[in-house]
Amino acid sequence: MRAAVVREYGPPGVVRVEEVADPVPGPKDVLVRVRATAVTSGDARIRGARFPRGFAPFARLALGVRRPRRSVLGLTFSGTVEAVGSEVTDVSVGDEVAGTTGARMGTHAELVVVRATKVVPVPAGVSHDDAAGVIFGGTTALFYLREKAHLQDRPGSSVLVVGASGAVGTNAVQLAHNAGATVTGVCSGANADLVRSLGATHVVDHTTTDVTTLPERYDVVFDTVGTLSPASGRPLLADGGVLLLAVASLGDTLRARGDVKAGPAPERVGDMRELLDLVASGRLRVVLDRVLPLDEVVAAHERVDSGRKVGNVLLRP
Ligand SMILES: NC(=O)c1ccc[n+]([C@@H]2O[C@H](COP(=O)([O-])OP(=O)(O)OC[C@H]3O[C@@H](n4cnc5c(N)ncnc54)[C@H](OP(=O)(O)O)[C@@H]3O)[C@@H](O)[C@H]2O)c1
Repeated sequence: MRAAVVREYGPPGVVRVEEVADPVPGPKDVLVRVRATAVTSGDARIRGARFPRGFAPFARLALGVRRPRRSVLGLTFSGTVEAVGSEVTDVSVGDEVAGTTGARMGTHAELVVVRATKVVPVPAGVSHDDAAGVIFGGTTALFYLREKAHLQDRPGSSVLVVGASGAVGTNAVQLAHNAGATVTGVCSGANADLVRSLGATHVVDHTTTDVTTLPERYDVVFDTVGTLSPASGRPLLADGGVLLLAVASLGDTLRARGDVKAGPAPERVGDMRELLDLVASGRLRVVLDRVLPLDEVVAAHERVDSGRKVGNVLLRP
């Protein structure tokens, strides 16, 4: 099969499309032909060995000290089941499925092997692009808003989303709006109309306004880009408010407690099912920045590295 291979950490140009051996499913696995996969900020972080402050030694131990241990990156996929392991009973050849591969990565390829328990059916009417696109940002936004901020228990909340036009942010704006919150999105002026169309009542242009100087106070402040720290974000909180830091240094992550929440969002099939159902029902829109063939994987990484991507960058292997 063809795959985007990363044999050394570095800029987007280190990624090369190569012919590699097809992955072979074990007894509990399924083999999926990848129709769409996202190049996420997580993939770009791994490729460039760029991690939030303090995490680099641990990340390199986990991912490869001098070069990526897993040379094919990619976490999210949507595609068609091509083979199933001998112990798999609830997934069949021909099923349209989506999911994540977690630490195994490997989705930037024509074929991927994944545990059968880790895939969810793609509902009728949902495209592979949308299914692959919603997972990374959607699971993160859902986890933070529901389990870290308990937004469902705070009816009529005010929510500030910093990075409202990114993969996490576009989902956060919509999920908060769906939960009945009044949403303020922070992005550049060029993305203001998009963010309003996703459900934000107010938009702040970070190129002209320093978010830490805003006079308003919010029940939830969700920073998805890493511009706020506990010290700069807390003053934006209303009484009883909570500060969500999707990007935090190791120190801030270890110290996060009380009104500050940080840490990794889990990849759970229940959350993926829920997000795909929301997409199927039209209550969650998947924002796509661009959809590229595998051969343009370097351009995909460049776009992610720009820090300007709007929603999701996808590959169609
Ligand atoms: N904790 C976790 O489990 C977890 C999970 C997923 C992701 N993350 C992290 O979350 C971060 C965001 O991921 P992502 O994929 O959503 O990012 P992304 O899509 O790459 O974010 C790009 C967006 O950020 C906006 N942006 C850039 N600088 C900004 C600023 N100063 N203020 C407001 N908006 C700004 C840009 O909008 P404009 O062009 O309009 O400025 C752009 O649309 C990444 O660092 C990722 O590693 C953490």
